Amino acid sequence: MQSDRLLLRGRLLTFNSEPQTPDDTSAFDYIEDGALLIEDGMILKRGTYCDVVAEAGCADIVDHRPNLLMAGFIDTHIHFPQVQIVASWGAQLLDWLNTYTFPEETRFASEDHAAAMACRFFDLLTNHGTTTAVAYCSVHKASAEAYFEEAEQRNMRMIGGKVLMDRNAPDGLRDTPQTGYDDTKALITKWHGKGRASYAITPRFAITSTPAQMEMAGALVAEHADCFVQTHLSENKNEIAYTLELYPEALDYLDVYQSYGLLSEKMLLGHSIHLEPREIDALAETGARPVFCPTSNLFLGSGLFDDAGLKARGITNAIATDIGAGTSYSMLQTLNEGYKILQLQDQKLHPFRAFHWITRGNAVALGMEDRIGTLDEGTEADIVVLNARATEAMALRMERAETLAEELFVLQMLGDDRSIDEVYVAGKAQKGKAPEIAAQAGGRKEPPVRDKELVLG
Ligand code: GUN
Ligand code: FE
Repeated sequence: MQSDRLLLRGRLLTFNSEPQTPDDTSAFDYIEDGALLIEDGMILKRGTYCDVVAEAGCADIVDHRPNLLMAGFIDTHIHFPQVQIVASWGAQLLDWLNTYTFPEETRFASEDHAAAMACRFFDLLTNHGTTTAVAYCSVHKASAEAYFEEAEQRNMRMIGGKVLMDRNAPDGLRDTPQTGYDDTKALITKWHGKGRASYAITPRFAITSTPAQMEMAGALVAEHADCFVQTHLSENKNEIAYTLELYPEALDYLDVYQSYGLLSEKMLLGHSIHLEPREIDALAETGARPVFCPTSNLFLGSGLFDDAGLKARGITNAIATDIGAGTSYSMLQTLNEGYKILQLQDQKLHPFRAFHWITRGNAVALGMEDRIGTLDEGTEADIVVLNARATEAMALRMERAETLAEELFVLQMLGDDRSIDEVYVAGKAQKGKAPEIAAQAGGRKEPPVRDKELVLG
């Protein structure tokens, strides 16, 4: 008989702060033979297997050893209507939008298409270990309805919004200041705070919104201060030049958003690459969050994100895939390309900080670290099970790995969806790959252990 309580056994890794140096082991908890007790979608208890099993009652036990259990990954910038234009050849940002992206997004006027794509999109997220995402839907209200309905069915903590765009886009892909306002308002009323959903007010970027629409976006933000706000900032040099032509009074690109009252700690600014000193000051003062999108920035040839420079100003950077300009749904592959972008600037992305970033770090950027991003007791049971030996190349490399940091770096550079052995969303297994329920607390035989233990650091 299956109980409502679930005990996951495995190696546990969770962060309590951002690691400041490669040997900052105080930033995380690592338990070699650990366990999580889960009930009603929440983590009830975390500890050594021995301690947790003693309190587990009749919980079913799933043994994930020797794999690593971490909080589910968080993707802070992704475009739901771009699933079928990933890997479209040749262009930089503005051409890419006009040639591939905008025509594709017109298809999301159809409710049936949006619903079918939402199902595929959420499958892709969970298969890649992502349990929370912040998504742009298309301009059509129906696309946001499809997105939130799918999230609700899966009980996922998701953030999203329909894009506001009323100019410089083809027929069928523009709203008006008033319809954009009304549709957003209706979506916020219906979805924001319902179950695990949150709304993000989403002016796509300055080029596709008239000043009248930006003013309406400012009104929405003032009326719904607890909603997120998301847009794009300074991704590409031609984009910046065109923006400043369209908004001649603006001091700089960020000032367009700032002058309409959009900036706060609730705001996520995709890319934020080519920034002026005044813009960096404004980010530091308002707490708005730049979002680093490594695979996208390389794919579109956009430029190199200055992570260290922004962090030195006390700015909280998030990290994300930016599918469909990004080329992988995997936050592991995102870290891989992020590592290389920082290398080009003589900056470092150590695996401890990398894995903090895609879990607790992004949760902090969203102000949600009390609910997601860790394996802390009392938080939501969104969990990934990571296998650092998922491919032949990884397994061969792991034969020579001595430390936890090395194992994490193998995952960071070589990992992808094949390394995600299982994913739990609010305590429910999503991939169906979890080992058979091994036993119930009480009487059970010893399962396999791994060949060697790794040291920390
Ligand atoms: N700027 C405005 N819209 C988009 C988009 O869909 N993707 C990217 N990468 N940048 C944008
Ligand atoms: Fe984007």
